Amino acid sequence: METGFCFRIASCFLIFFSKASTAAIDTISPSELFTDAMTLVSNDGTFALGFFSPGTSKNRYLGIWYNNIPMQTVVWVANRINPINDSTGLLKIETSGRIVLLVQNTTAVWSTNSTAIVQNPVLQLLDSGNLVVKDGKDPDNYLWQSFDYPSDTLLPGMKIGIDLKTGFHRRLSAWKNWDDPTPGDLTFGIELQGNPEAVLRKGSEKYARSGLWNGNDFSGYQNLRRNPIFDYGFVWNENEVYYIQFTKDNSVILRGILNQTESAIQRYTWNPETQTWKLFLSSPIDLCGRYGHCGPNGNCDSTKLPACCQCLTGFRPKWPERWNSADYFGGCIHSKPLNCQSGDDFIRIRRVKTPDATKSWVNRTMNLMECRAKCLRNCSCTAYTNLYVTRGGSGCVMWFGDLIDIKQFQSDGRDDQDLYIRVSASETELKKKAKVKPIILATVIASLLGILLVVCYNRRSRRKLKDEVEDKNPSDKENKDENEDMELVVFEFSTIAQATDSFSFRYKLGQGGFGPVYKGTLPNGQEIAVKRLSKTSGQGLNEFKNEVKLIAKLQHRNLVRLLGCCAQGDERMLVYEYMPNRSLDSFIFDQTRREVLTWSKRFRIISGIARGLLYLHQDSRLRIIHRDLKPNNVLLDSEMNPKISDFGMARTFGGDQTEANTNRVVGTYGYMAPEYASDGLFSIKSDVFSYGILLLEVISGRKNRGVYHANQSENLVEHAWRLWTEGKPSDVAEDFLVQNGGPPQLLRCIHISLLCVQQHPEERPDMSSVVLMLGSHNELPSPKQPGFLFCKKPFEADSSPGTDGTSSRNEITSSLLEAR
Ligand SMILES: *[C@@H]1O[C@H](CO)[C@@H](O)[C@H](O)[C@H]1NC(C)=O
Ligand SMILES: *[C@@H]1O[C@H](CO)[C@@H](O)[C@H](O)[C@H]1NC(C)=O
Ligand SMILES: *[C@@H]1O[C@H](CO)[C@@H](O)[C@H](O)[C@H]1NC(C)=O
Ligand SMILES: *[C@@H]1O[C@H](CO)[C@@H](O)[C@H](O)[C@H]1NC(C)=O
Ligand SMILES: *[C@@H]1O[C@H](CO)[C@@H](O)[C@H](O)[C@H]1NC(C)=O
Ligand SMILES: *[C@@H]1O[C@H](CO)[C@@H](O)[C@H](O)[C@H]1NC(C)=O
Repeated sequence: METGFCFRIASCFLIFFSKASTAAIDTISPSELFTDAMTLVSNDGTFALGFFSPGTSKNRYLGIWYNNIPMQTVVWVANRINPINDSTGLLKIETSGRIVLLVQNTTAVWSTNSTAIVQNPVLQLLDSGNLVVKDGKDPDNYLWQSFDYPSDTLLPGMKIGIDLKTGFHRRLSAWKNWDDPTPGDLTFGIELQGNPEAVLRKGSEKYARSGLWNGNDFSGYQNLRRNPIFDYGFVWNENEVYYIQFTKDNSVILRGILNQTESAIQRYTWNPETQTWKLFLSSPIDLCGRYGHCGPNGNCDSTKLPACCQCLTGFRPKWPERWNSADYFGGCIHSKPLNCQSGDDFIRIRRVKTPDATKSWVNRTMNLMECRAKCLRNCSCTAYTNLYVTRGGSGCVMWFGDLIDIKQFQSDGRDDQDLYIRVSASETELKKKAKVKPIILATVIASLLGILLVVCYNRRSRRKLKDEVEDKNPSDKENKDENEDMELVVFEFSTIAQATDSFSFRYKLGQGGFGPVYKGTLPNGQEIAVKRLSKTSGQGLNEFKNEVKLIAKLQHRNLVRLLGCCAQGDERMLVYEYMPNRSLDSFIFDQTRREVLTWSKRFRIISGIARGLLYLHQDSRLRIIHRDLKPNNVLLDSEMNPKISDFGMARTFGGDQTEANTNRVVGTYGYMAPEYASDGLFSIKSDVFSYGILLLEVISGRKNRGVYHANQSENLVEHAWRLWTEGKPSDVAEDFLVQNGGPPQLLRCIHISLLCVQQHPEERPDMSSVVLMLGSHNELPSPKQPGFLFCKKPFEADSSPGTDGTSSRNEITSSLLEAR
């Protein structure tokens, strides 16, 4: 029974087999030769060392890959620049502890240096993926380790940084292309000019940077700490400075990769169920993440969409006309010239990614007041801030000259990385006259002397991953597999072609993010909808079928039902039940059809979508994050029951595609949560955000993007929030719904939608709470400020300083907070 079960599941069989047969030979001693045909497997079977040929290349390389992952995933390469052109490659460890890779038994194509006097050196592949040279007499000190010479992959426990004693750098460098591990032009490492920061370079140019480490996070990734997969640390002492990461759950396989084709550093986790790598973080993700996008003294606001360039407070565009046509190259200049002798002042900007560190100076023990005084005294100092925001704040960083590559986040008032920018004193006086809150607050903070950065990471945390946990009851699973497999039909290509009149455009229902959708009629008269996937996903036949089977198991009255699939040649198609009433957007945004949806129908639709989403998040075995929830993806059946479509699509078919065809962010602008849009972090709470937007759209009959207020451009969320703070929330609703005061549920739904679009993911309710809120009359918590707002009006050359759009943001934030 036990084996029977095991053998039916291919992956289980594979793991079982490879473990049994290799019995883990993980070392090579000087008397042994290691040839092209051999592999070395780490003790627990996780990693293997051997010779391989990448992609379509015939060259041989010595490398390390995941032993139990069928898709060849190489994490390290020895002879990156000297490929071997035949199978005579030979790896040896010499008695000196030196490793050499020979070709034709003579030419060394790669070798390491021997440093110490050794007795019994052995080469060992560790379970971490680290290949080390150990000496018999001192096995804990490695004579050499591959983790010191990273390729393009960042594994848990690997350090990226600088040995300050020897000046030795450990950095990632991307492969030239997928057929050639020669270092490409993309590198990622820690740089130490002034304060240390992580820098991604393309050739010699900076391409993206992390901002300073503020004791808790990098200032450029203020949400990274909250990710569910890994924990990370940054260590800076007199010996070394480095970045390191660990998975929060040891059973999760995590790999970071510097991806040349994407010009990004990506994090993937392995999904054993679908046998695929799942991308969960990619950086940089938008233009605000790109080095210097807004030019000198510009401020990229990634809480707005699309990414939005503004001048820092106290600055104006150098070339206003070019600036207004989105050419930010010239950047910004002071609106009032500085006057160092007769007095300058500082303006505080909240929650920023600090400027480029090249022209910076750092002292780790000074306090903020001392820092300010020092900056004020030095006429070339243009900005300062404290280095560690935690523990009350300490340290001092000063910048000289133009401030480059600043990005602004929405402030949450805790552990903010603020920046104090030098401006003319007249600038701040004007502001005070205009009754704006003084921006410089005397933030005298106890100075902590001699702080040593201690990074605590909890590498052994057994906390289960929220989004990944699944039901692992084998007997249960077995039964379900049998029943559900039978319901999935594999259609012949000819059947589908006939049903859709050879994909005639007359039967085209629409174009989704993953390809066109057609209406079809099967010979038995059943109507179907066929999604013909774009050919770019490059998915193999078995992978495709596995995925489809998984999705077919998701069954809920509020999800569109998958009837079957078709895979022939490079065609991949999904066959769904046909929904005669099309999608929700074709009603709520339509002048004539909108009135069909009365409030009670809308409420049923809203509740149904919530239940469908709850099922995806919590009740289904797969725990799916939809990532692209919007009215176009909610279909209506003949009785106007809502059915979510395209679920599982993002994780499944070409995870890098979107409707907008940008390939970094999956989803649609206008529905994306801010933490997802700006940092690429997604969770079930980003779906909750999209649900909140959808809810507002159903209530108001308007799209999130657009102009609704006479003088200001507001999006729907801003509009709803303003009305809420002004005490007339129901004004946001469609006129005909609020006749005679409107139903009581309406107000409640507006309230719920605002809870869903709150800025901070942890403050948003989860879908089970939403379902409960919709169905009860309990009191609801007050909503806090919603997530991102849109780019404000462009710069107006003649507006007076202090009142123009560029500087109003901080004040808006504080007045809203005060209004509560
Ligand atoms: C393979 O490389 C060796 C030198 O490493 C060279 O002498 C030989 O000609 C090459 N063979 C082919 C087929 O390119
Ligand atoms: C390689 O060279 C060594 C000595 O130089 C010799 O003993 C050995 O047999 C050679 N091996 C092969 C495979 O040619
Ligand atoms: C070995 O040492 C030489 C000279 O010090 C150096 O150039 C080379 O990069 C070192 N090789 C490795 C693999 O460390
Ligand atoms: C690089 O990124 C692309 C697009 O996201 C992805 O398809 C590819 O698999 C990535 N390469 C690796 C080696 O992960
Ligand atoms: C840093 O500041 C402290 C306290 O103000 C001072 O004692 C120390 O000399 C400074 N270090 C440097 C390198 O300037
Ligand atoms: C200002 O700071 C810069 C950089 O540290 C330094 O070179 C310069 O001498 C300082 N000027 C004064 C007047 O202290």
